[in-house]
Amino acid sequence: MTQIKGCRFARLALSAAAFALAAGAAGAQTADVTFSRDVAPILQRSCEGCHRPGEMGPMSLTTYEEVRPWARAIRGKVVERSMPPWHLDKTVGIQDFENDNSLSDAEIDTIARWVDAGAPRGNPADLPPSIDWPEEDVWRLADRYGREPDLVVSSDPWTQTAEGQDQWWQPILETGLTEDRWVTGIEVRPSERRITHHSVVYLQQEEQPGDHEAAVDVPGRGSYLTEFAVGKIGDVFRENTGKLMKAGSRIAFDNHYHSVGEELVDSTAVGIWFHPKGYVPKYRVYGGALGVRQAMDTLDIPPGKVTVHHAYVPLALPARLENYQPHMHIRGKAMSMEAIYPDGRVEMLNHVANFDFNWHVNYVYTDDSAPVLPAGTVIHLTAWHDNTEANRANPDHTQWVGWGQRSYDDMYHAHVNITYLTDDDYEQIVADRRAGRTDD
Ligand code: HEC
Repeated sequence: MTQIKGCRFARLALSAAAFALAAGAAGAQTADVTFSRDVAPILQRSCEGCHRPGEMGPMSLTTYEEVRPWARAIRGKVVERSMPPWHLDKTVGIQDFENDNSLSDAEIDTIARWVDAGAPRGNPADLPPSIDWPEEDVWRLADRYGREPDLVVSSDPWTQTAEGQDQWWQPILETGLTEDRWVTGIEVRPSERRITHHSVVYLQQEEQPGDHEAAVDVPGRGSYLTEFAVGKIGDVFRENTGKLMKAGSRIAFDNHYHSVGEELVDSTAVGIWFHPKGYVPKYRVYGGALGVRQAMDTLDIPPGKVTVHHAYVPLALPARLENYQPHMHIRGKAMSMEAIYPDGRVEMLNHVANFDFNWHVNYVYTDDSAPVLPAGTVIHLTAWHDNTEANRANPDHTQWVGWGQRSYDDMYHAHVNITYLTDDDYEQIVADRRAGRTDD
């Protein structure tokens, strides 16, 4: 961040000099914004991930020639904040995420001014170097672990027709494990990214009663293992942590496909890297579907109504929350996650204000931003559903809707990876963070 700001200042100084030379150029402030210098870096960071050949974006946005015809459409989408997909309320809660590709107000303003000025190319010498995107047919985590995955499980191929409704494909496959193993890293790789909106991967296995409590399965699916979604290809577990994959476990895929005008086939593979045999990490990471039990019991969405439901999930042990991913269906409107501390203090952790069922955005906390909560904290989820005519995604506002697996039923829960901590480690993390804060 600081580096980028530094560059901007240097450029401003230069353009001020140029301005002085071109005396009297009215509206120079607007004309000053160019594709090469100002817009290309924004598109590289926030759009190219999906808008490049082979990815899910309907057009490539990597060069001036590609971008120019879309200038008006781009202005519209970024100003209304529907691109890139990032539905978090930026005015409350944690704002530091590993996968944040959203635009700042200043960046949106830059794009809008550039389009209003006629979308000038500017000086090609100002272009940032093009991004060297990783190959699609390699495991990206292989470099990190120095080997191909120890286990690969692939979903059976799915053919998505050229035109038509979005589809969900939910095959369940055996892992073939004959002994328990600890997972250190997981990557999800669709073979056809153009049609793959996201893929949630669940783990099905027998748990001890105590463990099961901590894992909170989605009934019929399993516990949340990992996923492929916006800006996310999987998980690398922190030091001393891992997920436990048991002998006889199975993988359940939940793949969301989108037609793109051409019949295409996808098979999504999960690559898993294990800790060495016999190694047991200090902490087991649990994939939780927080709130799912209360949602099953209470979800009641009358026709023509906007509803609010609450779920409360007490933490028996101190815990670190690694991510926040609200899950609802087409009537889902918004979902917030708060922490109610044992001393009565309430903190808004995050609020997804504009939930969009088409985008299962997962907000992945950084090492420093991940909430670390004491035992006895209650996680409070609030879910809003819109079953009125005003919800454009609503297929029928005259229907009552309850909890169910089909996409025309609804549900709500938050997929959260939870690491339960010892009291000592909890105290240590809190002390370290406090020290970090007073330093700056
Ligand atoms: C996570 C993937 C993703 C990211 C990141 C993303 N887009 Fe998109 N974009 C899509 C997909 C998929 C569509 C088509 C479906 C839709 O509109 O939801 C789309 C549609 C669009 C459209 C409408 C195209 C049309 O046919 O009218 C525009 C314009 C656009 N994106 C611009 C951008 C810009 C500008 C950025 C970055 C600031 C961006 N997108 C970031 C995936 C993405």
